[in-house]
Amino acid sequence: MSNSISLKTASHEYPIIIGNEILQKELTIALAEFDHESGYVIIDENVSRLHGEMISAILDEFFTQIYEFTVPQGEKSKSLSFWTDCVDFLLDNEIKRNSPVLVIGGGVTGDVGGFATASTLRGVPLIHIPTTLLAMVDSSIGGKTGINHHTGKNLIGSFYQPKRVIADLQFLQTLPDNEWINGLSEVLKYGAIRDESILSDTDVFLEGNFKEISIEHLSLLISKCVKVKTDIVQEDEFEGNVRAYLNFGHTFAHALEKLFGYDKMSHGEAVYLGMLAACKLSNLTGSAFDDQPIRKFSSLYNYRVSKNELDLEVLIENMKSDKKRIDQFIRFVLLNSWQHPTLKTVSDNSLIKQSWEEVSNQL
Ligand SMILES: NC(=O)c1ccc[n+]([C@@H]2O[C@H](COP(=O)([O-])OP(=O)(O)OC[C@H]3O[C@@H](n4cnc5c(N)ncnc54)[C@H](O)[C@@H]3O)[C@@H](O)[C@H]2O)c1
Repeated sequence: MSNSISLKTASHEYPIIIGNEILQKELTIALAEFDHESGYVIIDENVSRLHGEMISAILDEFFTQIYEFTVPQGEKSKSLSFWTDCVDFLLDNEIKRNSPVLVIGGGVTGDVGGFATASTLRGVPLIHIPTTLLAMVDSSIGGKTGINHHTGKNLIGSFYQPKRVIADLQFLQTLPDNEWINGLSEVLKYGAIRDESILSDTDVFLEGNFKEISIEHLSLLISKCVKVKTDIVQEDEFEGNVRAYLNFGHTFAHALEKLFGYDKMSHGEAVYLGMLAACKLSNLTGSAFDDQPIRKFSSLYNYRVSKNELDLEVLIENMKSDKKRIDQFIRFVLLNSWQHPTLKTVSDNSLIKQSWEEVSNQL
């Protein structure tokens, strides 16, 4: 059993398939249109270690020659120098315009591998095989690829849509607990901005036994998230307006990630804190609602930073350098109420500072 959700973009329409142990079947379909001489694989190092044998057994059936390139774990791989290494790997191994590249891993591998695929020969066919919850519900869908710059996160990149996304739930069996929690933040985001039922479906996470969640439940929950993301991307592929709603919590989050140097605070932790701060700022700017639907998950998060490390001046400066800035003011995704997001430019720094207190109280 698998679910297929289609995403129609300016360049083409492609499916996102969600199911358990679907890799072989879906690759058969995905690779049918390409020549089977050479296959290119850009893969996360942990996924390669944990699932490499299974993946090789499947790929050996398709390709005469497989070229594989491993992406070291961590945000540091989303760098200009590592992107160059990825492009070198593809070009040095004589990739052709119609050679497919399988990008297998979480959001880091997807973003840097996707950008290398987008930029090599002005674009070679990309197949995303997300292996984290976050990548399945978010980063593999919608075509954003890119790397970080020392002035900020995701500042270099392009919109480049994959040919297909294969979300095989079997990968999640080896996902560490903290990575489930990272993914949870983006799942909650979809519940907050669009689909209320996601917030109640997510209650199973409160028990903390992520690998015990049934395949059926997980498959439905991920499919609901993918549906929200594809609907929004279809409305606004290049982030002119409503696609920005997907950044709920992210203006605060990116400032945190920049302050803590990405490694001390994960993207998911930062997004969760950012959503609480965004709820607070929504309340402070006139929207009355209770943040309990997402606050109730706070005991699952274990931060590695303390409140005295929060430097408000630096955080606000970081927000101003984020690409969602409008002139000198910062534009936020806030909520009028649950599932009713809105874009607001906030000029009063004291309100923003009060919202940061929400983050400080969590640490
Ligand atoms: N492009 C987009 O639209 C978009 C959207 C959201 C987030 N992102 C980006 O995604 C990145 C975060 O992605 P992430 O949370 O997937 O992190 P990640 O790619 O760093 O993966 C997290 C960890 O899980 C490991 N891992 C991956 N799959 C595994 C598996 N099946 N079993 C065991 N371990 C596994 C990795 O080695 C890594 O240590 C950030 O850079 C963020 O900016 C991009």
